[in-house]
Amino acid sequence: MNGKMRAVARAYSNIALIKYWGKRDANLNLPAVGSISMTLAKLETISEVRFREDLSQDLVIINGRKAEPSEADRVSRFLNVVRARAGLKFYADVSSRNNFPTGAGLASSASAFASLALAGSHAAGLHLNATELSILARQGSGSAARSIFGGFVEMKVGHKKDGSDCYAVQLKDERYWDVCLLIAITSEKKKEIGSTYGMEHTARTSPYYNQWVRKHPLAIEEMRQAIEEKNFTKLGELSEASCLQMHALALSSTPGIIYWNAATLECIHTIKELRQHGCEVYFTIDAGPQVKAICLSPEIEKVKIALENTAGVLRVISSELGAGATILESNP
Ligand code: PMV
Repeated sequence: MNGKMRAVARAYSNIALIKYWGKRDANLNLPAVGSISMTLAKLETISEVRFREDLSQDLVIINGRKAEPSEADRVSRFLNVVRARAGLKFYADVSSRNNFPTGAGLASSASAFASLALAGSHAAGLHLNATELSILARQGSGSAARSIFGGFVEMKVGHKKDGSDCYAVQLKDERYWDVCLLIAITSEKKKEIGSTYGMEHTARTSPYYNQWVRKHPLAIEEMRQAIEEKNFTKLGELSEASCLQMHALALSSTPGIIYWNAATLECIHTIKELRQHGCEVYFTIDAGPQVKAICLSPEIEKVKIALENTAGVLRVISSELGAGATILESNP
């Protein structure tokens, strides 16, 4: 058996248009609100998992380097879920590689845990369907549940205490619409405040948190409709509103959390100016300083040049919609 329990999987990152911010159960990682995202073809993580009889602990390599203790611990806790499910006792060799900066608000945890869920479950001999994989990936990171699927994806908030109805579903596949995303990198540093702490702190101290949770189902419903109707203006306006509300929550917590830097604001102004001049583009921002611009494919070049010429922008990555997670190699 040893040496065969190996699999390699690839998953693409995703960016939420309607944001997930807040947990209803921190242990099971159950969100307090649903979310809608687009999966991105250009941002990927490839993970290899090999369970080995001879190991006395998990060995975790991220981007070619031994993982920091906190990262290795998070991966081990995730593998414990896989091991418990498969009735497996072996530790694993894990190697994960991203083709984009890690931990800077680029949803690296989404593609990381989606690829780990797929590679880990395969290597452990589990044959999970997409819903089961999404539930598993969610236990590593909420946004990872969405990266199991390609195209436009909705994460269901679910209501059950055990999380069995809390998983992502595909709304439309990656060929449905030529919506693109450009990412203006404004800092390559690791973000200071992770999303888990940010969410917990916000829920505890922001006076607006309950209102956010209460109003959220309407935003989900409207975004579903915008996608169904291919109404790009509506998709863009709803995305900006959800992003600004999420950041308003973070800002309104005590002490306030500010994920933006000066270049983040410069990019917002660039995008608004482009729009005033007839180029339809909208922004969204996650728990970090990078700005993501959303446009249709004919506008990509114009938006890219404008962002590259914005003060403080280091580089711009553009991406079309990507596919769901896949197995690249496995030794059954
Ligand atoms: O998946 P997590 O736990 O890192 O949370 C993701 C939070 C946001 O990226 C800010 C929003 C989202 O829905 O992806």
